Amino acid sequence: MNFEAQLNRYKTMVEEGLNALSFPGAPEILKEAMRYSLLSGGKRLRGCLALAACEAAGGKAEDALPFACAVEMIHAYSLIHDDLPSMDNDTLRRGKPTNHVVYGEAMAILAGDGLLSYAFEHLSSQQHPAAFRVLGILAKAAGVGGMLGGQVLDVTNEGKASDETLVRQIHLGKTAALITAPVLAGFALAGADEAGMEMAETYGRQLGLAFQIVDDLLDLEGDAALMGKTLGKDVAEGKLTWPACVGTEKARQDAAACIDLAVAALNPLGEKALFLQTLAENTLHRVQ
Ligand code: IPE
Ligand code: IPE
Ligand code: MG
Ligand code: MG
Ligand code: MG
Repeated sequence: MNFEAQLNRYKTMVEEGLNALSFPGAPEILKEAMRYSLLSGGKRLRGCLALAACEAAGGKAEDALPFACAVEMIHAYSLIHDDLPSMDNDTLRRGKPTNHVVYGEAMAILAGDGLLSYAFEHLSSQQHPAAFRVLGILAKAAGVGGMLGGQVLDVTNEGKASDETLVRQIHLGKTAALITAPVLAGFALAGADEAGMEMAETYGRQLGLAFQIVDDLLDLEGDAALMGKTLGKDVAEGKLTWPACVGTEKARQDAAACIDLAVAALNPLGEKALFLQTLAENTLHRVQ
């Protein structure tokens, strides 16, 4: 199977998994607001990473599907809250009005909360020897020392002078944590040993860093229609971004260097690493 076919297979599995979620017990309006953001497209990078990593490490993609859905729920929650007026104040996401524009701020906060807690509810019903371990991986990545911590550093450093150490910390937290988690989980569900978990960690961190550097670059020079969000916001909001610290040319080089490290980390897997390595390389040239 070529790369595109493989990616489509993973993406379809994730979409079907997310579509099947019924959020039992949720009030109708909450369900609607959660579904609005969860099922509104998106590249499904984090979900696909869970499935691909599990297969690369010798497991079955199906075993990683609950985690793939859970990480996409956490990601959707992070986007809803990221777009709030008190955060990045964005009105467009995945080519559609943001959650708070449609449902109001209170419901957007609650829909985010709903996705966050349901991700763990969903994962907790998984029957797998590594189920508890991957639940911990997700909690840590989403939490105070991961995505949430990164978002705190992002919003509290708006308008600050450029600082390479700090921007690295922000990007590792707000973005790389939730990109590393599905890779770690995929490997753990496949029964990887310590060396396998280490290569998963390196691949995920470097891919995650590059992914956010490229997001920063696309905010400066991307195509708004393809991105489905309002661009040019980082400069307007005084965000501490990678290009703001080192310039666009060096930012591109740094992203490429991260991808080289991500690719090299998986070399011991040989042919099995090919999909994940191609995915990483494509990140450098992404347009959405
Ligand atoms: C957007 O993530 C937020 C960042 C970490 C830059 P994605 O670019 O993966 O968003 P979707 O899921 O494809 O919409
Ligand atoms: C995204 O950072 C980080 C999270 C949503 C956790 P950005 O604020 O740069 O993402 P976009 O550009 O709004 O997608
Ligand atoms: Mg933000
Ligand atoms: Mg934002
Ligand atoms: Mg951005």
